Amino acid sequence: MTTTRATNAQPDAVRMFSFGVFSKLEGAVTAGMIHLGDRLGLYAFLAENSNITSQELAVGCGLHERWVREWAYNQAAAKLITAHTSADGEVRFGLTDEAVAVLVSPDHPAYGMGMFHRLPQTMRALEDMPASFRTGLGFDYDSHGPEGAVGIERSFEPWNQTFLLPVVVPAIQGLEQRLSEGASVVDIGCGAGGAAMLLAQTFPKSQFKGYDISHYALERAKVRQAEKNLSNIKFVDPRTEPILQDRSVDFVMTFDCIHDMTHPQEMMQTIRGALKDDGVWLLVDIKALDGLEQNMAKNPMASLMYGISILSCMSSAMSSADGAGLGTLGFSATRAKSMAEAAGFSRFTQLDIEHSVNAFYEIRP
Ligand SMILES: C[S@@+](CC[C@H](N)C(=O)[O-])C[C@H]1O[C@@H](n2cnc3c(N)ncnc32)[C@H](O)[C@@H]1O
Repeated sequence: MTTTRATNAQPDAVRMFSFGVFSKLEGAVTAGMIHLGDRLGLYAFLAENSNITSQELAVGCGLHERWVREWAYNQAAAKLITAHTSADGEVRFGLTDEAVAVLVSPDHPAYGMGMFHRLPQTMRALEDMPASFRTGLGFDYDSHGPEGAVGIERSFEPWNQTFLLPVVVPAIQGLEQRLSEGASVVDIGCGAGGAAMLLAQTFPKSQFKGYDISHYALERAKVRQAEKNLSNIKFVDPRTEPILQDRSVDFVMTFDCIHDMTHPQEMMQTIRGALKDDGVWLLVDIKALDGLEQNMAKNPMASLMYGISILSCMSSAMSSADGAGLGTLGFSATRAKSMAEAAGFSRFTQLDIEHSVNAFYEIRP
């Protein structure tokens, strides 16, 4: 049957389809080369030294020229770095300003190396997936090892560093004043703690607590806290030190983590139990739409996100037998609102904040 159907296929359509399939492989392999460019300092050296040969690039990075040359050819063919043949016949490589922003500059909001940092760990999960597809059981964030936590940190912090204080905090009515005067703040799913530490540094009268179930992320957060010498923040695992249910918290934040949780509805109830009646919850999560059709139509990155969901987000959300498994694109505004209402919140506002991947919600009891 399958053979007969394949014989019926139109040759031109087969060529087009095959090109589409191999384009995915081209993207996957080139993504691996981006990982190497970041990890080996090739982009950083190119950003500082324009118009250089593969020999100069190799020497500058302490690497073997033949390997660097092949890497540079891949990158030039993928139009990620520039390549020009000079009058002397030598090919010289460089980066555009835009490439420097995305590939080399952690302080630029478009910096994108976090996902590539953790690419080997993310793709390694493929080895676990056949079993997960059979049993239903996924893996939490620690399955990606310590470099997985660093990759997450490098993914989210550039935007936060630039926009959290000037854009996000002022968007929530009364928050800045409350934080300045001294508030109790909780960051759930805090990862390596960058967002909470930025606020803790800026608002020294406030007390912060970061919760995460990833030991690698918590370790990283504690090291960074010690480096910054911050005494108004503590990082803990909620399984050993549960989030207090005494309605004493002024401000809860959750960045890109509710959709990763095995029990998001219960977590929302916990957040309500922690918050004061006049407290506020900042929910930041993936800008998902309702259902496959809408996500396919309006999100050019939908296939990337459904794939990352399997390898990381949904896997985490299925890491216990009764996991909700929302997945990367499974937590739309509609669903977030109805789940928040079920958890006892009555005011739900989507904030007017522009972000390539995330939506921002202000939620109040
Ligand atoms: C995509 S990361 C985001 C980390 C961080 N908020 C950031 O923006 O960098 C999701 C985080 O949620 C954490 N997480 C998942 N389930 C959790 C739970 N039940 N309680 C606390 N943290 C959880 C994971 O360990 C992971 O660190």
